Amino acid sequence: MSDAKRGQWGSKVGFVLAAAGSAVGLGNMWKFPYITGENGGGAFVAIYLVCILLIGLPIMIGEVVLGKMTQKSPVGAFAELAGKRSPWVGVGWLGVITGFLILSYYSVVAGWAMHYVFLSVTGTFANVSPAELGQVADHFDALKANPGLNVLWHVLFMAITIGIVLAGVQKGVEVAARVLMPALLGLLIMLVLYATSLPGFGPAFDFVFGLHTERLTGAGVLEALGHSFFTLSVGMGAMLTYGSYMKRDDDVVSTSITITALDTAVALLACLALFPITFTFGMEAGAGPGLVFQSMPTAFAQMTGGSVWSTLFFLLLTFAALTSAISLLEVVASYFIDELGWKRIQAVAVTGAAITLFGIPSALGALDVFGSGMEEAIGHSWFGLMDYLTSNWMLPLGGLGLSIFVGFRIREVERAHAVADGSPLGGVLPLYLGWLQLLRFAVPAAIVAVVLHALGVL
Ligand code: PHE
Repeated sequence: MSDAKRGQWGSKVGFVLAAAGSAVGLGNMWKFPYITGENGGGAFVAIYLVCILLIGLPIMIGEVVLGKMTQKSPVGAFAELAGKRSPWVGVGWLGVITGFLILSYYSVVAGWAMHYVFLSVTGTFANVSPAELGQVADHFDALKANPGLNVLWHVLFMAITIGIVLAGVQKGVEVAARVLMPALLGLLIMLVLYATSLPGFGPAFDFVFGLHTERLTGAGVLEALGHSFFTLSVGMGAMLTYGSYMKRDDDVVSTSITITALDTAVALLACLALFPITFTFGMEAGAGPGLVFQSMPTAFAQMTGGSVWSTLFFLLLTFAALTSAISLLEVVASYFIDELGWKRIQAVAVTGAAITLFGIPSALGALDVFGSGMEEAIGHSWFGLMDYLTSNWMLPLGGLGLSIFVGFRIREVERAHAVADGSPLGGVLPLYLGWLQLLRFAVPAAIVAVVLHALGVL
């Protein structure tokens, strides 16, 4: 398809908003706190921050560059630069499949957030007496025990995602992100301020930032690496696809830095809002995927105007999930649009429907309602397996492929231009060379080392 026919961002901030919308999502407010809790806090957070800075950010720049250079989605981008029959095209394919799998279970969690909007609006978390406070967390168990409800919200969330992606890149995505981002940051900062007044704030701060290295395991390091990919939306071509809607003189470097900083800030703020509540009310930091749905409402139930706060929080969580889900569906659908010449409406409807169906076992299997014994046999429910495979293995593998490809397989002149055009920082030679060295050597070495460590080889 020619450049002219493809979508492009309406303004320079269009890319930043949409890419930040992709990065900031359930990964920041649902997943990061709960895996931090499960992995014992501080040391895990430290490794995660190192991964973000030294691995995630360089890959993000590389991904966006690849999209900007080729004006294609992942499969097409690799095919154009390496040849249609090259094995490198497999990295693009891996991205499309990863996007498909992530969205299939991501939508289930987003559905939980929508259910909590509903619970909040209907006053579930208002006027709760101190004696009943302990029961607020039980609403999550009730939801877990209701497969029909899980499927319903999952389907509803997918329908909304499909609707927005149908509207196309500009209208759908830019508008959704423009209002959301400031609102979300504002609310999180207010919640952190509230959390500082709780007796659990001190212990929570120590939990999140104290280096208790003895609690860290090899599997934890792999999870921190995998999550740094997940939270930045890198390793599967989402940033590549969004970069492909950029103009030649759009700034890749400072936008990538901005997005990374914003994403990290939201994740850390989420922890600082959440763990003080968890500790104050004697809840389990390692409670797992239910953490945000159990601890936050417990605090809201105590606040004046709790229903309003709670509605706002879960509404923003839903929106944050939506702008991420959009980018996942966009990667899958744009393969059919760009490579097979399908119409947008056809591509989005077909892939969206397929993902919705494929997600149903996650909606049921998060609960292991099949009684399949899967959880006992392999340690993961279907839902957990999707999450584990995509975050911990597929995204790092995709990131490895991307870093080697961008580092070694594209022409220096083109790469340097794509980085430097429109970017004051990208034009600074030592910075450019530093980035390239990271991408060529440090990033692949770190990914391989972490994977080998997790496999017990290193
Ligand atoms: N980054 C999103 C989040 O943190 C999830 C995501 C992963 C989106 C990969 C797109 C691609 O919630």
